[in-house]
Amino acid sequence: MSQELVQILFSRPDQASDKCEVPFSGVERSAPAGKTFYIETFGCQMNVHDSEKVAGALTAKGYRAASNCESADLVLYNTCSIREKAAQKVFTRLGTLKKSQREDQTIGVLGCVAQQEGERIFGRAPHVSLVCGSASYPRLGELIDRLAAGERRVTGLSLDTEDCFETEFTRRDNPFRAYITIIEGCDKSCSYCVVPGTRGPERSRPADRILSEARRLVGAGYTEIQLLGQTVNSYRDPSPARLTFTELLLRVAEITGLKRLRFTTSHPSDFTSDIVRAIEISPVLCDHIHLPVQCGSNRVLARMRRSYTREEYLEHVSCIRSAKRAISISSDVIVGFCGETEEDFEETLSLLDLVDYDQVFSFKYSPRPNTRAGRWENSVPEEEKGRRLAALQERQRQIQLRRNQALIGQELDVLVEAFQPKLGQSVGRTSSNRIVNFPGEAAWAGRYMKVCVTAAGPNSLVGARAEAV
Ligand code: SAH
Ligand code: SF4
Ligand code: F3S
Repeated sequence: MSQELVQILFSRPDQASDKCEVPFSGVERSAPAGKTFYIETFGCQMNVHDSEKVAGALTAKGYRAASNCESADLVLYNTCSIREKAAQKVFTRLGTLKKSQREDQTIGVLGCVAQQEGERIFGRAPHVSLVCGSASYPRLGELIDRLAAGERRVTGLSLDTEDCFETEFTRRDNPFRAYITIIEGCDKSCSYCVVPGTRGPERSRPADRILSEARRLVGAGYTEIQLLGQTVNSYRDPSPARLTFTELLLRVAEITGLKRLRFTTSHPSDFTSDIVRAIEISPVLCDHIHLPVQCGSNRVLARMRRSYTREEYLEHVSCIRSAKRAISISSDVIVGFCGETEEDFEETLSLLDLVDYDQVFSFKYSPRPNTRAGRWENSVPEEEKGRRLAALQERQRQIQLRRNQALIGQELDVLVEAFQPKLGQSVGRTSSNRIVNFPGEAAWAGRYMKVCVTAAGPNSLVGARAEAV
């Protein structure tokens, strides 16, 4: 998704959608009258949704959203630690905020950097008084109360939990797509990755809670739901119903009024063909699967501890490609992992050709603290990583351009997600997760329309409205 679109979609609190769920009655409002909060989010969709839940929990406590960090009584940064650059961002923000900080302003660091750095954050940024990782969000309200009662510094850093973060009120910042976390944490042990250490062990939410949240959201007017998890398809229902991931998908998809159901991120080791069958059966399930491969070389995959081979991955791809309706496939790729040779990299390029991906998110390997690979020699020089990344992105650009151009002349269903007034263009998204720009109106946002594709670039399509659906 383009940065611009992210800004349009994830509206500021003062522009938040009117589709927020209503807090349960009887919630204890413990915030001193008139206190405000501001939360800035970095990182993945799970973080985005965690922030929606944190904002909801604070609102239920009586806080109001401030429109900027300077005016807020409580400033929270929900952070990402996946790569070095991402982790640095919060320290830049904290540095800037320090210059304008009021005495009575409370600053908290949440998320993956909080969990990773823990109390060291207080050393680097003494103006911070709250450090809390996502596994401790169920205790966040209590931590904030302790600060309000006069404690100088509080932390929530335990990973020893079986709980998921349940709130009675979630502030929904995306007016069209509602997120539902179905599984938290990660039990895989990819050697390059901080997530198992920052988000804790895998915990699945009971299916009945997920289904009632989904029904509530559809009742509130949402037509698109996205189920979230770092390894979403590793979902294991802890309730007596013991629904499989695919059964859960189909149960959510049958909710009357729901038009689109997405899920991310699928892990290849837990990928089963019944997911493809479910997409074939249910038109509500979007025809898109995000299935990160990371690398095309078995030697590197083994060192990454990805627990599948190139051949096994390609079997999943042929299963998806043989589906009765076309399903787009996207992926994540890391270049320049420890010990990656030119031949290994060539194997990743050849895998891109074989799979013919619809979209690839690619990254230079970034050694991370508290990971196995973080202790290994970071053997590929930065310059070489840059060369490989550019070569991979160019190869994938050509693949996407060809695949997108093949859609010219077709009529596609889009959900209109935004309007660009300067261009007079509506921005829609296809079920396959492609962006289509077409002449439109601001009032069309939120509607489903048929659009005829007239031109295509590597990252988006251009079209014209065919008819309202
Ligand atoms: N759970 C998902 C990925 C979550 S992190 C999965 O297993 O696929 C999102 C992406 O960040 C990963 O897919 C990987 O491509 C990238 N990534 C993770 N750690 C990284 C690191 N140390 N350096 C560079 N990229 C990394
Ligand atoms: Fe990280 Fe691997 Fe877990 Fe994905 S599956 S979050 S890459 S450890
Ligand atoms: Fe980043 Fe944590 Fe998500 S490290 S990618 S915010 S799980």
